[in-house]
Amino acid sequence: MKESKLKKEASRIIGWRSPSNIALVKYWGKHGDQLPNNPSISFTLSNAYTETIVQYDPLEYTQDKISTNFYFDGKPNEAFQLRIDSFINKHLAEFDFLRKVQLSIESRNSFPHSSGIASSASSMSALVLCLLSLEQKIKGETKNFLQRASRLSRLASGSASRSVFPHVALWGNCSIEGSSNDYAIPLPSVDSVFKSFHDDILIVSAEEKAVSSSAGHQLMVDNPYGNTRYERANRHIIETEAHLKNGNIDALGEIIENEALELHALMMCSRPSYILMEPNTLAIIAAIRKYRKQNKQPIYFTLDAGPNVHVLYPDEIKNEAETFVNESLLPLCIDNKIIRDKVGEGPQMITEFSI
Ligand code: DP6
Repeated sequence: MKESKLKKEASRIIGWRSPSNIALVKYWGKHGDQLPNNPSISFTLSNAYTETIVQYDPLEYTQDKISTNFYFDGKPNEAFQLRIDSFINKHLAEFDFLRKVQLSIESRNSFPHSSGIASSASSMSALVLCLLSLEQKIKGETKNFLQRASRLSRLASGSASRSVFPHVALWGNCSIEGSSNDYAIPLPSVDSVFKSFHDDILIVSAEEKAVSSSAGHQLMVDNPYGNTRYERANRHIIETEAHLKNGNIDALGEIIENEALELHALMMCSRPSYILMEPNTLAIIAAIRKYRKQNKQPIYFTLDAGPNVHVLYPDEIKNEAETFVNESLLPLCIDNKIIRDKVGEGPQMITEFSI
């Protein structure tokens, strides 16, 4: 483990580990200040996470503008620092308690930087959780801690709003009680089979994404299928919620695969258009479908806005699924790269790095 750049003054240190998440119904298209064009539902993951530790040193004066010291993976990182500073300064009214402290922030990801895994969900939620814990320390109680963490995480990165809750989270207005565009909520009444679901993330390419999420969301503005997409996403939300409740893996799996392919179809028909799947993405998808048909096993895939494939299956078929993944899918990954993940319990406070 790398030596931390922060001073070892435990009384002025706050840390959180926050996981990434994988959307089953995708958020793609936004408006206003980070408001989604349709609701989304995700599995909170467990092994793909960010650990962030914040050190705060009291100042004698009050700052108008916050400038943090930021270290990523043990090294100063200016690009990340600028993104964080700009987020904090844009929402300084929410973070007024930061005017009288100097922040030094150190962040690490459990997954390799070059693994093609989007890290904004885990990194932004970890940062916001640290800031809210700091607020709690400075000002006393923070009301609705997790709801506030979700809302502020959303302002940094939409998908980050969903990472603060265990198992399954829903973000976006819909007919489900308590849903909101402002923050995510934990989805109640999820069948236990999904709380131990596996997600093997197959790394097909470790290259940087061809289109950033922000640019991708923007492409939805003129997408000719935009309205049809939003209608379908809303329908998928209602069906997904029902299948998550009644434990119907096959019905859920059909929607999940549909959502993944629809996300990529939207990118293919936007202007400019993007094809983010690689030949091996398709080879993996074909192999999963063939295996499922031949072996009658509930094993499904989803995709993010990139070429890597998430293989989803219940714990009860873990052994067979692992054999299939190792023998048939791993050779299609770059350098046999895989992240074996599972649905998880959500963020946790930490006092030191574990990675
Ligand atoms: C395809 O949350 O990364 O992963 O709000 O611009 O930070 P910003 O976008 P981001 O978009 C994620 C898009 C997605 C689908 C999803 O996670 O729902």
